Amino acid sequence: MRTYELSKNGYDRSKRYLAGGVASSLRAAMKPVPLFAESAQGAVVRDVDGNAYIDYLLGYGPLILGHAYGPVNEKVYAAMQRGITYGLQHQGEIELAKLLTEVLPCADKVALSGSGTEAVMLALRLARAYTGRSKIIRFHGHYHGWSDSIYTSFPSADMPSASASATASGAVPPGTAGQSELSLRDVVLLPWNDQAALEAALAEHEGEIAAVISEPVMCNSGCIVPRPGYLEFMREATAKRGIVLILDEVITGFRLGLGGAHGRFGIKPDLVTVGKAMGGGFAVSGVAGRAELMALIDDGTVSHLGTLNGNCVATAAALATIGELAKDDGAAYDKMEKNASKLTAGLRTLLGKHGIRGVINEIGPVFHFIFTEQTVVEDFASFNLRDSAKYALFAERMLEAGVLVRPNGLWYVSAAHEDADIDATLEAADRVLGGLR
Ligand SMILES: Cc1ncc(COP(=O)(O)O)c(C=O)c1O
Repeated sequence: MRTYELSKNGYDRSKRYLAGGVASSLRAAMKPVPLFAESAQGAVVRDVDGNAYIDYLLGYGPLILGHAYGPVNEKVYAAMQRGITYGLQHQGEIELAKLLTEVLPCADKVALSGSGTEAVMLALRLARAYTGRSKIIRFHGHYHGWSDSIYTSFPSADMPSASASATASGAVPPGTAGQSELSLRDVVLLPWNDQAALEAALAEHEGEIAAVISEPVMCNSGCIVPRPGYLEFMREATAKRGIVLILDEVITGFRLGLGGAHGRFGIKPDLVTVGKAMGGGFAVSGVAGRAELMALIDDGTVSHLGTLNGNCVATAAALATIGELAKDDGAAYDKMEKNASKLTAGLRTLLGKHGIRGVINEIGPVFHFIFTEQTVVEDFASFNLRDSAKYALFAERMLEAGVLVRPNGLWYVSAAHEDADIDATLEAADRVLGGLR
């Protein structure tokens, strides 16, 4: 039996000084207690009570090469010896920007920031400035960061306070208290993977829409892939009306391949936002896209600011991470996809063995595992029928069995996971699912 005494003590102490006891609201959902990490290496994280876990949380996605990856750390240390941030130009920024234009198919130019939230803020601003329009179409179940102008509709098992649906007046509800409802006045909230709904909204708001923003795969709510032709329709319908298409690739970027989901699907958005895996765990994000849009930053029409933007640590980390991912013709991707397929196939077999109903939606090295009576989950409405309490219990028991998974069901596989980790994970899941029946 594992104990979590030191984590429990740590959480009690942290609640005295740290608002909410955690540094990001999602983390409070972990049961039996938000774990205090002691150290981590590769695919394994250790807590302060001496427990070790095979890690599929991976820092909520960025750790695509695993924890404390040596070759990236070395490049970052070397960069730090020459200075951490200058507030001046330096070679690393140019190298990273150039590399991004080479690997992201939609990128003529890029802008660098520190988080996915900031990248989305910039992309929306560019779209509004470019079109001279103010409305933004976004979709239920997608998450684009927590800024006031976009944060709504993110019902997640680990974010119980966020709102799920439009209010009776049709207004888009804020995702949190303290957020001005006016900040969402220009947001049109639609079901995703629904071509007719998009078509109707585009007709209703003809001439008013600045941008459509979408995760290319609805990773945050069920890892649901676009129906055949849906993204193509989105691209065509926005282009026809002079609307900026923003694909938010903060999860999918550098996770589904160097060219992200838009490279994988062959869709060319006007703008793309990237973060998480691009920096391998360091704080860096970017907006990349068409020259005409990015030119609004060139000529000062659109402000893009940030004290630490493009700092030496961030650029060194991103250059090193992308370099590792690109090595040997993307061998890291082949390994991650092979391991993720073995894991999801094994979990499905175990669901069958234990007579438990569930769905696993996957794309490459990311998948969403839910308990549900349905056999297919391909939109947000069906995703919401999941048994999230049962999954949270599964996650808690997996922790007890030495496997760290996010309480909402989203799993990430890294290049550090080995075949033996997958076998050990499946053995743990076998025991846990057996006990859940
Ligand atoms: C698709 C998407 N966009 C934006 C964000 C916000 O990124 P960050 O947490 O780095 O601000 C996230 C974070 O999970 C995300 O999943």
